[in-house]
Amino acid sequence: MKRRVAILISGRGSNMAALIRAAAAADYPAEIALVISNRPDAGGLKKAAASGIATTTIESKSFNNDRSAFEAVLQSTLDQHRIDLICLAGFMRLFTAEFVQRWYGRMLNIHPSLLPAFPGLEPQAQALRAGVKISGATVHFVIPQTDAGPILMQGAVAVHDDDTAEALAARILEIEHRIYPAALRLVAGGQMRFEGGIWKTSADAAPAVLISPAVS
Ligand code: GRF
Repeated sequence: MKRRVAILISGRGSNMAALIRAAAAADYPAEIALVISNRPDAGGLKKAAASGIATTTIESKSFNNDRSAFEAVLQSTLDQHRIDLICLAGFMRLFTAEFVQRWYGRMLNIHPSLLPAFPGLEPQAQALRAGVKISGATVHFVIPQTDAGPILMQGAVAVHDDDTAEALAARILEIEHRIYPAALRLVAGGQMRFEGGIWKTSADAAPAVLISPAVS
């Protein structure tokens, strides 16, 4: 039985689109049952609908700062659609610790840095300021602390000396579109196991090293 996934978005939804594309494969262990936006103008809503995915908007603004009230509506929507797993994909709203705990081990997020480096806003600009030579993206389970939690998968890219934040973000985004569907495949397919406080997998080890700048 495929696991039923809800993707939560606030914006353009390019990671959402990558997940929808991957889940179209017959052997993919998850189906995208619902896309939820907290903003009615999120560009991803149209993309999801064009792919035949059910969409709904729960406008967070109308709840002011009452997170619990927003989450009560969110939870009942998730229940109605019998959702097993949540993928946050550019969802720009924080949850209460209670909601996060309820979904612990069943809610994934993607962040455009190699966590635990550069959590929070503008991680690509943070990476440039720090002068790191390698950055990337991380898929992790969500815990109450923002952009933290057990890591499921990472993808690395070289940082170039002449990079702008936009150029680095574009390079990282390509990796995001590869690792988010791959990480969801491992989780939904039961290929991740919790061992010694860390999530491990029976999937193949990464074959390559990345050294930046290149050495011969
Ligand atoms: C991505 O960079 C993701 O890692 C971050 O927010 C951005 C969302 O982009 N959490 P998109 O809406 O998936 O295109």
